[in-house]
Amino acid sequence: MEPQIINLPKILDARGNLSFVEEDTHIPFKIKRTYWLYDVPGGECRGGHAYKENEEFIIALSGSFDVVLDDGVKKRIFTLNRSYYGLFVPKGLWREMENFSTNSLAMILSSTDYDEKDYIRDYDLFLKLKGNGEI
Ligand code: TYD
Repeated sequence: MEPQIINLPKILDARGNLSFVEEDTHIPFKIKRTYWLYDVPGGECRGGHAYKENEEFIIALSGSFDVVLDDGVKKRIFTLNRSYYGLFVPKGLWREMENFSTNSLAMILSSTDYDEKDYIRDYDLFLKLKGNGEI
């Protein structure tokens, strides 16, 4: 599957709106783990790696930020700034997160448990593995 923005249900209510996400129904993997990024200082960049297996669904629960996805040939920038949609990030892409607004909150649903061995943190190695078709 390609990286893509996936819209989530939005239950509008005068008392406050509600959205939700279900594995399989809305995102194409089983949710194994959830983590979130908060208190990101202005100008900071998170990410800067690829995963061999892990897939993600990233939601801006609050504020805004950009997710930059790089397949080794071209880069695509997705700006997330609403809590009723998210970005599906398949495995094998270099991803960075930047331009965090003040008080932004990024929630990330992951398909695998945390495993440092699943990370590729060296961009040249990423390009090599991508070029060889190893990821
Ligand atoms: P990392 O994934 O490198 O952060 P980012 O990609 O947002 O810059 O994780 C930073 C540190 O947090 C790293 O040392 C490992 C730890 N960590 C966990 O222990 N569990 C997790 O689920 C995640 C995402 C990170």
